[in-house]
Amino acid sequence: MATKKRCSVRLLVFGASLRDGSMNDRLASLAAAVVEEKGGSVERASMKDFECPPYDLDVEVSKGLPAGAQALHDKLVATDGFMIASPEYNASMPGILKNTIDWVSRFRPQPFNGKQAFLMAASPSMTGGKIGLWSLRQPLEHLGARVYPDMFALAQAHHAFDASGRIADSKLQNWFETTIECFIDLVEASKHYPHLKKQWVEFLGERPDEETTRVEMGETAAAV
Ligand SMILES: Cc1cc2nc3c(=O)[nH]c(=O)nc-3n(C[C@H](O)[C@H](O)[C@H](O)COP(=O)(O)O)c2cc1C
Repeated sequence: MATKKRCSVRLLVFGASLRDGSMNDRLASLAAAVVEEKGGSVERASMKDFECPPYDLDVEVSKGLPAGAQALHDKLVATDGFMIASPEYNASMPGILKNTIDWVSRFRPQPFNGKQAFLMAASPSMTGGKIGLWSLRQPLEHLGARVYPDMFALAQAHHAFDASGRIADSKLQNWFETTIECFIDLVEASKHYPHLKKQWVEFLGERPDEETTRVEMGETAAAV
C-alpha cells in the first residue's frame, strides 16, 4: 500500500537474462511489485525485447539501429527512470546487456542521459552478483544516467524466494522495500528539480568536428 501521495513516477523494470526461469527476472518482478506498492507505476519488460545483433558501425550505417535498441530507447523515453536486475557473468555484466547499451547509446538525444537508475542482481553465489553491477554502473554513468548509490545483490538466490515470490528473509525483504522507496523518492525529486541531471555528457571517441554531436548539455550548462 502506498504510504503517501506522490506525483506520478513511472519506472521501466527488466531482468537482463534471456533464459526462462531467470532468478533476475523474478527479482525484477518483485521490484515491480514493490514500486507499485509504494505508489509508482511500472513498465515491465524483458531482455528478450531488447536483443540486438553484435554492434557494428557498418551495420548501423547500412541498416540503422535495430528493433531491440529502438524498443529500449522508446521505453526509456516514456519513463522517469529504470531498474535492471542483471546476472553476473564472470565478474561482469552479460555481454548481451552491454551490447544493447552500446546500440542505444547511438540515439540522439541519447536516452540514458538524465535518467535515474537502480541496479539489482540475483545469483546463487555468496556475493549475489554485486561485482557485475559495478561494471554495469560504468557505461550507464558514462552515458549520463544517475545510478543510485545503493545496489541490491541477492545472494544464494536459488534459495532466497518464498512461494509468493517475496524474499523469504523478512529483514532482507524490508531492506529491499525501503531502499526502493528511497529510490522512488529520488526519482520524484528529479522530476521537480531537473537540474539534478548531469549537465555535460561526453561521448568519447567521436570526432570533434562540427558535424558530430560530441557533448550533450543539460539545461544549466546550455544556459551559460
Ligand atoms: C557464463 C557464466 C558466467 C557466470 N559467472 C558468474 C559470476 O561471475 N558470478 C556469479 O555470481 N555467478 C555467475 N554465474 C552464475 C549465474 O549467476 C547464474 O547462472 C544465474 O542463475 C544467472 O542469472 P539468471 O538466473 O537470471 O539467468 C555465471 C553463469 C554463467 C552462465
